[in-house]
Amino acid sequence: MTKTNRQIVLAELPHDKLGREHFALSEGAVPTPADGELLLKTLYVSLDAANRAWMQGATYRSALKAGDVMAGGALAEVVESRAGGFSPGDLVFADTGWQDYAALPARHLTKLPRIEPLTHLLSVYGVAGLTAYFGLIECGRPKAGETVVVSAAAGSVGSLVGQIAKIKGCRAIGVAGGAAKGALLTGELGFDAAVDYKAGDLRRALRAACPDGIDVYFDNVGGEVLEACLFNMATHGRIACCGAVSQYDGAAPPHGPRGVPGLIVTRRLTLTGFVVMDFYAKREAALAELKSWVESGQLKVREDVIDGLENLPGALIGLLAGENVGKRMVKAR
Ligand SMILES: NC(=O)c1ccc[n+]([C@@H]2O[C@H](COP(=O)([O-])OP(=O)(O)OC[C@H]3O[C@@H](n4cnc5c(N)ncnc54)[C@H](OP(=O)(O)O)[C@@H]3O)[C@@H](O)[C@H]2O)c1
Repeated sequence: MTKTNRQIVLAELPHDKLGREHFALSEGAVPTPADGELLLKTLYVSLDAANRAWMQGATYRSALKAGDVMAGGALAEVVESRAGGFSPGDLVFADTGWQDYAALPARHLTKLPRIEPLTHLLSVYGVAGLTAYFGLIECGRPKAGETVVVSAAAGSVGSLVGQIAKIKGCRAIGVAGGAAKGALLTGELGFDAAVDYKAGDLRRALRAACPDGIDVYFDNVGGEVLEACLFNMATHGRIACCGAVSQYDGAAPPHGPRGVPGLIVTRRLTLTGFVVMDFYAKREAALAELKSWVESGQLKVREDVIDGLENLPGALIGLLAGENVGKRMVKAR
């Protein structure tokens, strides 16, 4: 076992765009687990747009402060157990933070199966897959033949949402930045159309792609994309409010989307905010269905794995800038 614990600390809170200067690498001792705790070795750290939102204030977790080890979920292996039910070699998903080792209470942790590839435990069988599944099915409630639009469509959640919409018999339209991402969506991932939100006049481009209106909009980004979708919603349309990545990395936006509440009233829209944990009672059934789709080849899993714990700051900055395709994670070495 390495004798030191590399940690990436949030040295300073960003007030505008996140940069490398906001992080610092330090080395400490490997922690000793107390009674009821596990010593965990980080294997793969999940990169999430929400990592940046945690720097803005309290969300579904408390806000990060300058000097904290950067928070983040990871796939980790038990190296020492001082809790019943866990042994060295077991795998868990835990909030280890950006460090090689963490000692954490075992009581909220669940053992994960050792599958191949292990990275699927962070992508399709992790938070991303369950968020796509529950957000679309429980909040979007798509019916066969309907039109589903998803934003950040080439990202980890979005790339799965569009494919699940296709499996459910819907037309799937992805909103993503740039022609290369559009080609991936309509090629390998089987979306019916892609719209480049960076190419200008998004409202008109969506109207052309969705001539009968949008029945379900899965919103990962908020801001101008949400506004353009609101103006294209069909009567009785549903919006699954999953996140607002356009608003995480910078100062607060000057105003909310136009059309609220007028369009919500006249088009009888339903907007449903959700956090993936809301649906965890149905987790096992969802995982079984996701697995069957992956095994049958209906659901393709894109992953973007970067090597080296020291590359975490750059990996998060790049994710916020749209560098990633599919689920971004960093393999700790
Ligand atoms: N509610 C929940 O329980 C839950 C759980 C997990 C994740 N989430 C949410 O899911 C969303 C996706 O997060 P993720 O971690 O999976 O990241 P991701 O989608 O893999 O990556 C983020 C993507 O956002 C796009 N983006 C960045 N800035 C944008 C902007 N200004 N306008 C439009 N698109 C922009 C980029 O792609 P482009 O190249 O297309 O710009 C980037 O690749 C986030 O909103 C996150 O908060 C919610």
